[in-house]
Formats: sequence, structure tokens, C-alpha cells
Amino acid sequence: MIILLHLIIFLQVKDSITDTECRMGFFPCGNLTLCLPRTFHCDGVKDCENGADEEYCGDNSGWANIFYEVHGKSNDVLEPQECCLSRFPESCECKDTELECVDVNLEAVPYVSSNVTLLSLKRNKIHALPDEVFIGYHDLTKLFLQHNCLRNISQKAFFGLFHLQRLYLSNNCISYLQQGIFSHLRELKWLILDENPIIKISQDIFAGLRSLFFLSMINNSLEALPQRLCAQMPLINWMDFEGNRIKTLESSSFVTCNELTVLFLRGNQISLVKENIFSSLRSLAEIDLSNNLITHVPLSSFKELNHLQKLNLGCNPLSLHTEQFESLQHLQSLDLEKIEIPNISTRMFLPMKNLSHIYFKKFRYCSYAPHVRVCTPLTDGISSLENLLANTILRVFVWVIACITCFGNIFVIGMRSCIQSENKTHTMSIKVLCCADCLMGIYLFFIGVFDVKYRGQYKKYALLWMESLQCRSLGFLAMLSTEVSVLLLTFLTLEKYLAIVFPFSNIRPGKRQTLIILISLWVVGFMIAIVPFWNEDFFGNYYGKNGVCFPLYPEQTEEAAGQGYSLGVFLGVNLLAFIIIVFSYISMFCSIQKTALRTSEVNSHIHADVAVANRFFFIVFSDAVCWIPVFLLKILSLFRVEIPGTVTSWIVIFILPVNSALNPILYTLTTSFFKEKLKELLHRQRRRSVFRNERKSLSTSLVWTEETVAQHSSLKLGFLHKKSLDEGIIKTT
Ligand SMILES: *[C@@H]1O[C@H](CO)[C@@H](O)[C@H](O)[C@H]1NC(C)=O
Ligand SMILES: *[C@@H]1O[C@H](CO)[C@@H](O)[C@H](O)[C@H]1NC(C)=O
Ligand SMILES: *[C@@H]1O[C@H](CO)[C@@H](O)[C@H](O)[C@H]1NC(C)=O
Ligand SMILES: *[C@@H]1O[C@H](CO)[C@@H](O)[C@H](O)[C@H]1NC(C)=O
Ligand SMILES: *[C@@H]1O[C@H](CO)[C@@H](O)[C@H](O)[C@H]1NC(C)=O
Ligand SMILES: *[C@@H]1O[C@H](CO)[C@@H](O)[C@H](O)[C@H]1NC(C)=O
Repeated sequence: MIILLHLIIFLQVKDSITDTECRMGFFPCGNLTLCLPRTFHCDGVKDCENGADEEYCGDNSGWANIFYEVHGKSNDVLEPQECCLSRFPESCECKDTELECVDVNLEAVPYVSSNVTLLSLKRNKIHALPDEVFIGYHDLTKLFLQHNCLRNISQKAFFGLFHLQRLYLSNNCISYLQQGIFSHLRELKWLILDENPIIKISQDIFAGLRSLFFLSMINNSLEALPQRLCAQMPLINWMDFEGNRIKTLESSSFVTCNELTVLFLRGNQISLVKENIFSSLRSLAEIDLSNNLITHVPLSSFKELNHLQKLNLGCNPLSLHTEQFESLQHLQSLDLEKIEIPNISTRMFLPMKNLSHIYFKKFRYCSYAPHVRVCTPLTDGISSLENLLANTILRVFVWVIACITCFGNIFVIGMRSCIQSENKTHTMSIKVLCCADCLMGIYLFFIGVFDVKYRGQYKKYALLWMESLQCRSLGFLAMLSTEVSVLLLTFLTLEKYLAIVFPFSNIRPGKRQTLIILISLWVVGFMIAIVPFWNEDFFGNYYGKNGVCFPLYPEQTEEAAGQGYSLGVFLGVNLLAFIIIVFSYISMFCSIQKTALRTSEVNSHIHADVAVANRFFFIVFSDAVCWIPVFLLKILSLFRVEIPGTVTSWIVIFILPVNSALNPILYTLTTSFFKEKLKELLHRQRRRSVFRNERKSLSTSLVWTEETVAQHSSLKLGFLHKKSLDEGIIKTT
């Protein structure tokens, strides 16, 4: 078994390093053939030789990509230049044909030279723009009017600005835009209307904006978007309606937005996304619907958006379907922050082959999107620990208890094999029990090994480890050991019970029956442990729920089947077994006492009685110590009590192996049979040393050997005789 596990582990580790095509959850180091797990990428530490694991970590999909494609990077060299304007207020700063009148208490638009190209009137006290106030400025391309508390803009205010490209009207008090107000701005590309109390817009307002590319209306009070929003601005590429009060979206709003690539609707009050609502947005690359009240997104919503790279649905009370993202094959970035996904599955995210960034509410969800290189959050509270076993005590004791369990059981198996016993079937049962318990030692041993392996960087491997075959195999091993051990203990108890409570009925199993029972108990244990592998969708990763790979589930998990199964095993099978054991021992004890009272030789029995009581007490007690915490944990989890994740490690390392470690002591080392044997051994040792001292002078080994052999066999005979007389009622133990 150990060799097999070693082999599996070896193959797994090799596989992860030499595969040229990286397997799920692994990503290449740039153009190298080396693959590293996701947790190694973008963690701030260079793990690849060429540092490729720390490249392309930022999420540049969507508008960031497009912006550079359209505008390129600006390389304007700005050198201080002389003023080319002849007339302007003294308080303003002039550079070339650009004029800056920032925060100089102007109350009206000043009169300046007609060849001005940039006019900045930010942070003044201009509250109104009268008719044709800019009429003479044919060359004006940029006009800044932010922070003026502009309230009253007359319909003809911007007349004559035929070459204006950018108009900034943010942070004003504009609540109403008159029809035709922008009708002369034929070359306007940017219109910024952020932070105004605008409640309503109609499509006519945009009349004349034939070149408009960028429209921003952040933090207004818009309650709805007009129909055919883009009808008057056919080139509109970017629209930002963040922080408004939009409640519903009509598909008629977006009908003519053929060029739109970016649509921000974050922070509105949208509760309903209708079918096919965005279907006319053929060029859309990024859409942000986060921070709304969306509960349901129809499957067809994003169906024909073949250029969509970035989708943000975060911070919505949204419930997702398994097929939700089927039509989003081109998506590169998906934001699902703060969204609970109860029936999350790998299938959900697989259609998005090119996804490079994904944002989740929980770290755990990341395991369902193994093909995505960057997954946020990077850690959960528990797995951010540097080590698999968080605590030094745990780390030391995992080895101590592994050794005790392993060697104790192996010793008993060896001893029982060497020492002939008159009750062969019983010996067989005990040996089988020790085998099962030994598996628990092996399990702990490997947990220790992996703790050492991942020391200091468990964070990186946590998810991989829990997903790995090693973890699952170890979980299986521990489960097998626990269940077989529990079943065998119950069997041994019942056997003893029959022998003691009904001493004269002859219904005790013979050798063959015992063998059959033992084999079937192993088969049952094996079935219990292997069933969770049967259906991944149903049970999820049953064993790999925590670092120690034992399915105790202190936390609530979404796989109802896995949780139900775990509950069934621990509160069904194991609790039943525990109750049987406790009641059997109690009734055995009562029965022995009754027999003792009936017989006249009370005195001689008292000693034996106390011994029996002690042994029975310890057997039941060790069972209770082992199982009651587990039962409690399970019951608490039923009532949805939050239990810290480290509790599992403590239970698995200190409490669960109690039985496996104590069973050899309880069922062999403390039995009268073994005690006699031990006494005999000590006796012989003493005799031997006396014997040796006497014979110091004559050191003829041959004679010595002969003598010991003779002595041994005679003692053995004597012992067997004595024992068969002695054992009486406790014979079967
Ligand atoms: C990987 O790319 C770097 C430059 O980006 C180049 O210098 C190097 O030779 C490439 N290595 C391989 C194995 O193609
Ligand atoms: C702008 O007009 C003024 C006269 O109003 C003239 O002196 C100046 O040269 C002009 N500048 C440019 C760049 O045309
Ligand atoms: C806006 O200005 C026009 C004149 O420019 C004036 O007639 C009108 O009363 C003003 N409206 C408000 C609300 O101040
Ligand atoms: C919109 O309002 C929010 C909250 O008041 C603020 O954080 C954000 O900066 C504002 N956005 C703009 C573009 O002013
Ligand atoms: C998700 O699970 C819930 C129950 O947990 C179920 O009612 C619902 O139909 C499931 N949704 C999908 C899409 O499977
Ligand atoms: C994924 O990305 C690659 C390279 O960027 C591109 O060639 C391919 O067409 C994309 N696939 C999809 C389905 O968008």
C-alpha cells in the first residue's frame, strides 16, 4: 500500500513538471515548456526563470485594450510656449492659443481673442450661459466648464462652436438640457456631464452630435434612458451612466448603437434584465452591470455579443444558471464579486475558453474555474496559512501518533503471529483489526510527509493539494480505516456479548463464518469509503474539503449530497455502532456480576470482576473519546454553527486515531493472556541472568542454548495449562 501511494505521488509530481501542454490548473511560463500551478502566477514572487509568471497580471480586457487601439498613446511634447492671444483677462494664463482661467472668480464668460483653441473656465462662478456666448470662437476645440454651478444654459449657448471636440460640463447644477442645445457641435467627440442633477434626457438632446464618440453622465439622477439613444450619434463608442437611478432597461434604447463598445451601468437600480436586451450591441466589448439589483439574467441576454471581452455582474443579488455563460466564448474577464453561487460547477465556466481573469466572492469557487489564470480572491482565511498543519503541536504529534499507531499495531500483529493462541479465530479478528488501525497510522504518516513538503508555501499548493489524487487517496484510506475499525469493534463486541450473556447457547461463529464476516466487513468499509468517488457532480470533491483530507465538514458546503453522506456515515453507521458497543458492554458487565453473585466463591471473583470492569470501562471510554467529539461536531454543523476550520485538523490528528492507537493496547497488551506471557518472559529473563552468573566461568554456549530451549518449552506447556484454568469467564477476551 505504501509503495503504491509513493508511486502515485511520484507520477503526479512528475506529470506536473514535464507536460508540454499544461494540464488543468497549470499555466505555462511564457514561451518555456515549464508549467506552474495558478497560485504561482501573479503572486508577486518570480517563480519562472524568465519571470513570465508575473507578467500580464493586470486585467486590461475591455475598454483599456480598445482605448489604446483607437487613440494610441499620446506622445505630445509639451514645451512652454509663448502666448499667441492678444486679448484675455489678466487673471488668466495664456500659452500658445490656449487659455486657462481656473478659480479666478469669473462671473461670466470672458471676452477673448477669436483664435483661442482651448478655453478652461474651471472653478469659477459662472451660473448661466446666455445665447451665443461662444459665437466668435471658430477655432475652439476644447472647452472646460466644470465646477461652476452652471444652472441656466440657454438653448443657443454653444452656437457657432463648429470645431469643438471636447466639452466638459461636469460638477455643475444642470438639471435640464434644452432641445437642440448641442446642434452646432458637429465635431464634438467627448461630452462629459458627470455630477449634475439631470433627471431626464431625450434622444433629441443629442441632435447634431454626429461625431460624438464618448458620452459620460456619471452621478446624475437619470431615471430612464431614452428610446433609440444612439439615433442622433451614430459613432458613439462609449457610454457611461454609472451612479444614476435607472430602474429598467428597454431594448429599444440600444437599437441603433452599432458602434458602442463600452457600456457602464454600474450603481443604478436595475432589477430586471430583459431577454435579448443587448442583442443589437454588436460591437460591445465591455459591459458593467455591477452594483444593481439584478436577480436574474436571461440566458439569451449576451447571446450575440461576439466581441464581448469583459462582463461585470458583481454586487448583484444574482442567481446564476449552470448554462449562464454558454454564449460568452470570447470573454476574457468575468466579475462575479459578492455573488453566492450555490450550485457552482466546472461546467459553468468551461465555455469561456479565453477567460484570463475571474473575480469571485469566495476563494473556494476558484477551484471550479481551473482554466482561468488569475482568480480573485487569492486566498481564503484558512488556506492562507503558510503550512498544511498550522500548529507546531499538530506538526510534532502527527508523527508521534502515526508512529504509535503504526508500530503498536504492527507489533501486535507480529506478536499474535508468533505466540500460539488456543483461540485462533479470535486472534485472526484481532490481527485484522490491527491491519485496519494500521492504515490510520499510514494516513497520519503521509499527512506529516505532505506537511513537510509544503512547509512555508502551503498557500500556493493548498488548492492543488486538496484537488489532488494524493489527498483523495489519503482521505479514502482514513475513511476505510475508520469504518472498518468501527465495524470490527462492533463485531468483536457482539461476539463477546454472545459468549458471556448466553454462555451455553452455541451460536458463536466458527472459523469459516468469522472469515466470511471479516471479509464482508472490509467490503462494507471499502464501499462506504469508495462511494464518494462514484459521482463528482453529486459529491463534489468529497475528501478534499480541507488540508487533512478528512470529510468532517465543519463549514457548510454547497454539495448537499456530500454533506448528507458524511452525516449518514458519522451519525448513522458510527453512532449506531457506538451505541451497540456501549450497551453490549454494560449488559455484559451486569451479566458477569450476576453470575458472580450466584456462585458462592464471591471473594475469588472480586479481583477478576474489577479487572473486567476496568477493561470494559477503558474500551468504552476510548470509543467515547474518539467518537463523541465527532458526533458533536456533526450535530453542531446540522444546526449551522460556525466552527473554525482548524478544528478538523485537531480532531483528525488527536481524536480520531485514539481508537487506532489504543486498540492494540486494549485488545492485546492488557489482556490476561498477554500479561501472563509478559510475566513469564520477565521470569525467564531473571532466571537467565541468575543462570548466566552461576555459569560465568564455564562459558559453553552449546549447553546454555540447550538448557534455554528445554526451559522454554516446559514453561510454555505449564503456562498454557495454567491459563486455560484461569481464564474462566473472561476466556474470550
Ligand atoms: C522566449 O522569448 C524570449 C523573448 O521574449 C526570447 O529571448 C527567448 O529566446 C524565447 N525562448 C524560447 C525557448 O523560445
Ligand atoms: C491670433 O489673433 C491675434 C490677433 O487677434 C494675432 O495677433 C495672432 O497672431 C493670432 N495667432 C494665431 C496663432 O493665429
Ligand atoms: C435663464 O436665462 C434666461 C436668459 O438668459 C432667463 O430668461 C431665464 O429666466 C433664466 N432661467 C432661470 C431658471 O434662471
Ligand atoms: C460618483 O459618486 C460617488 C459616490 O458619491 C463617488 O465616489 C464618485 O467619485 C463619483 N464619480 C464621479 C465621476 O464623480
Ligand atoms: C440550483 O440549486 C437549487 C437548489 O439548491 C435548484 O433549485 C436550482 O434549480 C438549481 N439551479 C440550476 C440552474 O441547476
Ligand atoms: C482566444 O484568444 C486567441 C488569442 O488571443 C484568439 O486567437 C482566439 O480566437 C480566441 N478565441 C475565442 C473563442 O475568442
